[in-house]
Amino acid sequence: MVDLPPSMLASLVDALAEIVGPAHVLTEADVRAGYELDWTGRFRGATPAVVRPADTAEVAAVLELCRGQGVAIVPQGGNTGMVGGSVPLHGEIVMSLRRLRGMDPVDVAARQVSVGAGVTVAELQAAASAAGLRYAVDFGARATATIGGSVATNAGGINVLRYGGTREQLVGIDAVLGTGDRIERMGGLVKDNTGYHFPSLLCGSEGTLGVVTAARLRLVNRYELAATALVAFDSIADAVDAVGVWSSTLDSLEAAEIVLDAGVRLVCEVLGLAAPFDRPWPAYVLVEAAGHDDPMDDLADAVAGVSSVRDVAVATDGPRRMALWRLREEHTASIGTVGVPHKFDVTLPMHALAEFLESVPGRVAVAAPGAQTWLFGHVGDGNIHVNVTGLAPDDERIDDVVLAYVAELRGSISAEHGIGTAKSRWLHLSRSAAEISAMRAIKHALDPDGILNPAVLLPA
Ligand code: FAD
Ligand code: MLT
Ligand code: ZN
Repeated sequence: MVDLPPSMLASLVDALAEIVGPAHVLTEADVRAGYELDWTGRFRGATPAVVRPADTAEVAAVLELCRGQGVAIVPQGGNTGMVGGSVPLHGEIVMSLRRLRGMDPVDVAARQVSVGAGVTVAELQAAASAAGLRYAVDFGARATATIGGSVATNAGGINVLRYGGTREQLVGIDAVLGTGDRIERMGGLVKDNTGYHFPSLLCGSEGTLGVVTAARLRLVNRYELAATALVAFDSIADAVDAVGVWSSTLDSLEAAEIVLDAGVRLVCEVLGLAAPFDRPWPAYVLVEAAGHDDPMDDLADAVAGVSSVRDVAVATDGPRRMALWRLREEHTASIGTVGVPHKFDVTLPMHALAEFLESVPGRVAVAAPGAQTWLFGHVGDGNIHVNVTGLAPDDERIDDVVLAYVAELRGSISAEHGIGTAKSRWLHLSRSAAEISAMRAIKHALDPDGILNPAVLLPA
């Protein structure tokens, strides 16, 4: 717990209540519990209090108070993060940003919208759609993940290969830095070359430099016509090669996800779904195309143009497309039914993807006999999710194995989930000493008292 004497803790709680109101300082154990355990169930912390500010002014006041008392803060949005960055593992105060739910009307002319940090990705997607546009970032946790959290982690998801991740959608930010200074740049000017770009700097900073209270985001065309195909292959290598071809030939390509036989069987078993084909195949690619013109013919031609395709299921209407997507999107929750997963979220250069996918289960089995490896992910941008079950939460035998192998193949130890507390010990595998030193200098400049997520991202 926060190592303050009980009397100081009591006065801190009273002072927090002065700022946000007693109803928004949560100290009861059962109420705090949901804020203390992460989504994967692997990272459990403890906090003396969860504080829920209503607006930027209250965020700044809480920050000022905690700075004055040297009390660390974990900013939290939907708590769907996967790297142990959103829970109080060292007794920090949890600052929940879920109450920051403002959303301006969509600025259709500018194709942008200003959104509070506590709005969920799904709520933003719905508002953009209602205005005839679309928010391009999409991923399985859309109903719970918040805009603030997705900015803080630079969330990627299934459409990165066409639109980029959260950073590419970010045109403005409203945030309170660890210094207590407010950075408010929400004008949305597309060209604004006037010094360091704070939205980009804070995007992906995982709550270590500032608390994001709002963001101004770019919106893209909403395409009414989409076609989705689940394509079966004899081998992982054939699947990866096909994605390379489609990335070059299919202009309307929106998503390309890889799933393997074991994961598809697990999802079908857990959800009671029928298998997608009359026989299992080693590897599948879920590929989606969308546009103002019907992309079905283009998709059919692209699939037909790859000789290694063994079978294909195609869907153009909503329900059947969703049925195909469930086989991919339910991987995360289905693996959770096997056990608390040890998650890796890595990027490999395209030329090393097949080799990595084919050999990492064997490397895990040597390091941790009995552990089971589940592989799936955003193959279109080289991002593979390696989930390993059958390990104790604190068993890090395979981190060295998997992350060292990723580094050997010149990949990244974190593609989209961030570093959190789970990967900070291996940051040096993907960033140089000079880069880490520069990051520390930035951290010291923007959070001089080191109260914002001190255990996250930068190694101790
Ligand atoms: P939290 O988990 O609450 O916090 C995440 C990090 O951001 C923490 O370090 C926290 O301190 C910080 N933070 C949160 N809010 C703020 C704020 N307002 N200001 C400053 N710092 C803040 N992620 C992907 O990138 N791609 C995927 O495809 C993907 N799929 C997922 C599927 C499932 C089923 C689940 C459960 C998660 C998935 N995620 C994915 C991971 C997660 O949803 C994202 O990282 C998401 O951006 C986290 O948002 P959140 O609001 O839950 O943040
Ligand atoms: C996904 O793409 O499903 C996620 O990033 C979550 C995961 O790794 O489980
Ligand atoms: Zn993902």
